Amino acid sequence: SNKKLAIAIDGPAAAGKSTVAKIVAKKLGYVYIDTGAMYRTLTYSVLQHKIDISKSKAVVQHLEEISIDINAQQEVFLNSKNVTEAIRSDAVTQNVSAIASIADVRSIMVQRQQILAKNRAVVMDGRDIGTHVIPDAEIKIFLIASVSERAKRRHEENEKKGFLSNLEQIKNDIKQRDKMDSERKVSPLKKAEDAIEIDTTSMSIQEVAEKILAFVNTN
Ligand code: CDP
Ligand code: CDP
Repeated sequence: SNKKLAIAIDGPAAAGKSTVAKIVAKKLGYVYIDTGAMYRTLTYSVLQHKIDISKSKAVVQHLEEISIDINAQQEVFLNSKNVTEAIRSDAVTQNVSAIASIADVRSIMVQRQQILAKNRAVVMDGRDIGTHVIPDAEIKIFLIASVSERAKRRHEENEKKGFLSNLEQIKNDIKQRDKMDSERKVSPLKKAEDAIEIDTTSMSIQEVAEKILAFVNTN
């Protein structure tokens, strides 16, 4: 069909959301929007400016002063500076959930994300897409996998890039982040009631993408 659909993909860290979302978007000719990159970019900028992350007001004010842009090649820009690699650092990963738990940060981010999704066919991934950002998305997917499998995937990804990587540390970081993301007061990580849960622990990337595409075709 030619119907313009919105596809929301949520789930815990390193479940394969962005990898699969990119494949699905490419296949359908939809725009892919990585909302995690937006929270990561804010976090990177806050760390660069040495803003105390416990001072919510200062963080929110900083967000209002910066521009965050993502191009069609998934390159991320902070005030026109390319920060695509920088936002994946351990420091950003370890601080992003605290910043993403600030209510006013979330309301600004959600508003920006809703503008990006308006009147377009999109595949958007994050933690609250099906529950808050696009609650009327036609297709909602909740991707999960065991913590060990997710840590192993991130570890292998790091090693492939030639980065120093410690499996135990990755596992602990993932657990910590999932806990903070699931327990925060404002739009926590949670499966939407009408989302389809896919456990990808023993699935390949291609299998997950095909499963999602099958739902799109029968919608
Ligand atoms: O790719 P990875 O699982 O490492 O995380 P991400 O998607 O880049 O998201 C980084 C962090 O941003 C998450 O751990 C959340 O704290 C936050 N986030 C969020 O709160 N809401 C979203 N829609 C997307 C990300
Ligand atoms: O976006 P999210 O944090 O949920 O995960 P990701 O960055 O897309 O995936 C994390 C890693 O797992 C990537 O290196 C993927 O290639 C890999 N992956 C996998 O091995 N098998 C899957 N079924 C899905 C992802």
